Amino acid sequence: MTIRWETAVDAAKVYEVEAAAFGRPAEADLVQKLQQAGVEAISLVALLDDELVGHVLFSPVAVKSEAGEFTAVALGPIAVSPHHQKAGIGSALCRQGIEACREAGYELAFVLGHPSYYPRFGFMPSAPHGLHCQFNAPVEAFMVLELVPGALQGKQGTVFYHPLFAGV
Ligand SMILES: CC(C)(COP(=O)(O)OP(=O)(O)OC[C@H]1O[C@@H](n2cnc3c(N)ncnc32)[C@H](O)[C@@H]1OP(=O)(O)O)[C@@H](O)C(=O)NCCC(=O)NCCS
Repeated sequence: MTIRWETAVDAAKVYEVEAAAFGRPAEADLVQKLQQAGVEAISLVALLDDELVGHVLFSPVAVKSEAGEFTAVALGPIAVSPHHQKAGIGSALCRQGIEACREAGYELAFVLGHPSYYPRFGFMPSAPHGLHCQFNAPVEAFMVLELVPGALQGKQGTVFYHPLFAGV
C-alpha cells in the first residue's frame, strides 16, 4: 500500500471511493466543493497496486471563545473502498494524515466520528477540555488530539468547520 498526497488527477476516483464508502454522495460532494472553494486542506490517498482505495481530508477549523480565536485542523471525511475495509488502510491514512498536520504546524486536531475508532490514534473526548463542536453531535463523538505536547493547555471554545460542512 502506498499513501501519498492527492493530486488533481485523483479527483474522480476520490469522489467514487467517498460515495461508495458512505453509501451516499453527500461526503463526496463535500470533498469536491471544499476543493473547488480552495479550502486549504491536507488530502491523502491510499493506493493498492495503483488502484485508489482510500482517501482522507483534513481541513482548517476556527476555535472561538470570548478570549479570542485560533485555527486548528479537523479530520474528515475519511473513506476506504468497501472491498478494502478492515485491512489497515484507514488507520494508515489517519496516522500519516496526523503526521502531515503536525508537520504543517497545526497544534490541535479534531474529529467528529465513531468514538470506538479514533482513540487508537490518540483522540480523546474534547468536551472535558472545554472544547465543543458547533454541531449538535453526541458528546463522545467529538474528539481532540494534541499534535504538540501541552497544546490543550488554556485552549477552550467552540469549534467551527467551513460552512460547507453544515449541509452534510
Ligand atoms: C471508517 C473507515 C474509514 C475505516 O477504514 P478501515 O480501513 O476499514 O479501517 P482499519 O482497517 O484501519 O481499522 C479497522 C477497524 O476500524 C473499525 N471500524 C471500521 N468502521 C467502523 C465504524 N463505522 N465504526 C467503528 N469502528 C469501525 C473496525 O471495526 C476495525 O476495528 P478493530 O481494529 O478493533 O477490529 C472505513 O471503514 C470506511 O470508509 N467506512 C465508511 C465511511 C465512514 O464511516 N467514515 C468515517 C466517518 S467518521
